[in-house]
Amino acid sequence: MKRRSLCGLLCLLALGARPSRGGGKAAPRTWDDEAIASLEVPLAARAASARHVASDFYYRIPVRPIYKSYPVYHPDREPPGYWAWLQAQEPELAWDASKLAADEDWIRAGEIVFDAPIGYGSSLRVEEVRDRAWYQGVGVPLARDGTMPFSRYVIRKKGQVEIGGGACLSCHARVMPDGSLVKGAPGNFPADRALAYHLRAQAASARAPEKFLETTRLGQRLLFGAPWLRPDPVAAMEAMSIEEIAAVYEAIPPGVSTRVNLSPLIPAQIPDLIGVGRRRHLDRTGLVRQRDIADLMRYAALVQGANALDRFGDLQLLEPLPDPARLNRYSDEQLFALALYLCSLRPPRNPNPTDEAARRGREVFFREGCAACHTPPLYTNNMLTPADGFTVPEEDRARFDVLARAVGTDPGLALRTRKGTGYYKVPALTGLWYRGALEHSGSVAALEDWFDRRRTRADYVPTGFRGAGVRTRAVPGHEFGLGLPPGEKRDLIAFLRTL
Ligand code: HEC
Ligand code: HEC
Repeated sequence: MKRRSLCGLLCLLALGARPSRGGGKAAPRTWDDEAIASLEVPLAARAASARHVASDFYYRIPVRPIYKSYPVYHPDREPPGYWAWLQAQEPELAWDASKLAADEDWIRAGEIVFDAPIGYGSSLRVEEVRDRAWYQGVGVPLARDGTMPFSRYVIRKKGQVEIGGGACLSCHARVMPDGSLVKGAPGNFPADRALAYHLRAQAASARAPEKFLETTRLGQRLLFGAPWLRPDPVAAMEAMSIEEIAAVYEAIPPGVSTRVNLSPLIPAQIPDLIGVGRRRHLDRTGLVRQRDIADLMRYAALVQGANALDRFGDLQLLEPLPDPARLNRYSDEQLFALALYLCSLRPPRNPNPTDEAARRGREVFFREGCAACHTPPLYTNNMLTPADGFTVPEEDRARFDVLARAVGTDPGLALRTRKGTGYYKVPALTGLWYRGALEHSGSVAALEDWFDRRRTRADYVPTGFRGAGVRTRAVPGHEFGLGLPPGEKRDLIAFLRTL
C-alpha cells in the first residue's frame, strides 16, 4: 500500500519516531522534563515565557477514556428512529492500545483520538445541535450526508446521549463546497459564533445574572490575560457586558479561532494540518519547535489541557494547582497515534490545472523572489521573521533560523498575546486552493484580497477577520506582489492555487 509506506517513511525518517521490537512501535515519552523545557521559543517579554508543570505532576493525571461515538445529524436529516436507537446503545470504549501493531492500526487509532471530545457540556449542548434555530443562527455547514460533522454523540452511560467539545475535529476539519469533509484542512465550523450563541442563551436563562457576568469576565482573564503587558490587551473585556463579550466572539469568522493563550481580540488563522510533520515551528508565532514527532505530541498535550497548568513569570494560571486526580489527559500511546495520523494526512485531489496561466504565474513567483521565503517543495523556508517593533536578541540567531528581513504585518499576535514570541513564521503555501482565510489572523478571505494593494489602507474593509465594532482597518505589510500588473497577479494566483 503506497499510502502506508509513504507515511511510514515520512514519519520515521523525517520525524525520527522510534520503531520498537516486533515490527510495532513504542510511543515516545510525551512529558520529558528536558524536552518540555526546551520546547518553546521564548516570549518577546522573556521573563514571562511559560513554564509547564513537572513530569511527576503530569503523569499523575489520569488518562481520559475514549468512547465510541456516533454522528450528529441536522434535525431534518436524522434517520427515523435514530435518537431512540442511540438511547438504547451501551457505552463502549473505542480505544485499545493492546491491538496496535501495524502502521495502519496506529493511524486508524489516531483518527479516533482526533475525533474524540475532551470534555462535555461546556461549548456545545445536545439541545443546540438538535435545534434548527442553532444551525441558522450560527451558520453551521453540513456535510453531504446531512451530518454536522464537527462533533459526535458519545454514550458514557446507557440512555444518556452527550455531545462533547474540544476535539481536534471541531477546528481542524473542513466541509468542502461539494459537501465532502477534509480532516486536517483548516476548519470551517464557526466555533466562536457557536460560543457567542451559547453565551447569549446562558445569559438569558441565568438565575444570577451578576454572578454569571462576573464568572464570564474572570474566564477571559484566566484564558487570555497577559498582565505583564501594559496595558493587558484583554483588560478591556473586564468592563464588557455579556452582549459585548458575545459580539467579540461573534466577530470571529470560520477559519479563524480563539485558542488557549490567544485572545478573542487577536485570534489566529486555523492552520492546515496536512503537511504539518515537515514544519520546524508550530503556531503562527513559531512558539513551539518541532524537532521530532514527540514535539507534535507535546503540542497536542499542551493545547488540550496542560497549558492551563502553566506559569507565566509571576502569574500561575491556577493557584494553587488543582489535584491531578481531578484532571484528565491523553496517554502517550494516544498522542503518538494522533501524531502518526496527522503525518499520514494527504491533501484532497487538486482540481486546478497547471495551465498556461499557472505556468506564467510560476515564473512570476520565482522572478519576484517569493521562493526565497516560500521555498519549494514545502513552499516555506521554515524560518522566523521578526514582527514590526521586535528587536531580535543576539542569542536567538544561533538557536533559531531567523530571517533578517521583516514583512511588516500587524504585530498584535506576535507581541500582544501569551504566544507572543516577537516572530511570525513563514507559512507554507501548499493547499491554498482549499484553505480559506489568509494572514496570521485570517484578516483576508481570499488570495485576490491578499494581493490587493487597497488592503494596506486605513479605509479598507477586511474580507476576513475584522474585529468587533471595527468597520475599516488596514491589513498592512507583506507587500510582495502588490505592485504587479493585474494580468500577472491573476497568473500568480492561478499558480498558487495549483500548490
Ligand atoms: C478551538 C479550536 C481548536 C481545537 C479544538 C484544536 N485546534 Fe489546533 N489550532 C487551532 C488554532 C486556532 C491554531 C493556530 C494557533 C496559532 O497559530 O497560534 C491551531 C494550531 C494547531 C497546530 C499548529 C500547526 C501549525 O502549522 O502551526 C497543530 C499541530 C494543531 N493545532 C493540532 C491540533 C490537534 C492535534 C488538536 C486536537 C488534539 C487540535 N489542534 C485542536 C485551533 C484548534
Ligand atoms: C521575506 C520573506 C517573504 C517573501 C519574500 C514573501 N513572503 Fe509570503 N509570507 C511571508 C510571511 C512571514 C508570511 C506570514 C505573514 C503574517 O501572517 O503575518 C507570508 C504570508 C504569505 C501568504 C499567506 C499565507 C497564509 O497562510 O496566511 C501568501 C499567500 C504569501 N505569503 C505569498 C507570497 C508570494 C506570492 C510572494 C512573492 C510575491 C511572497 N509571499 C513573498 C514571508 C515572505
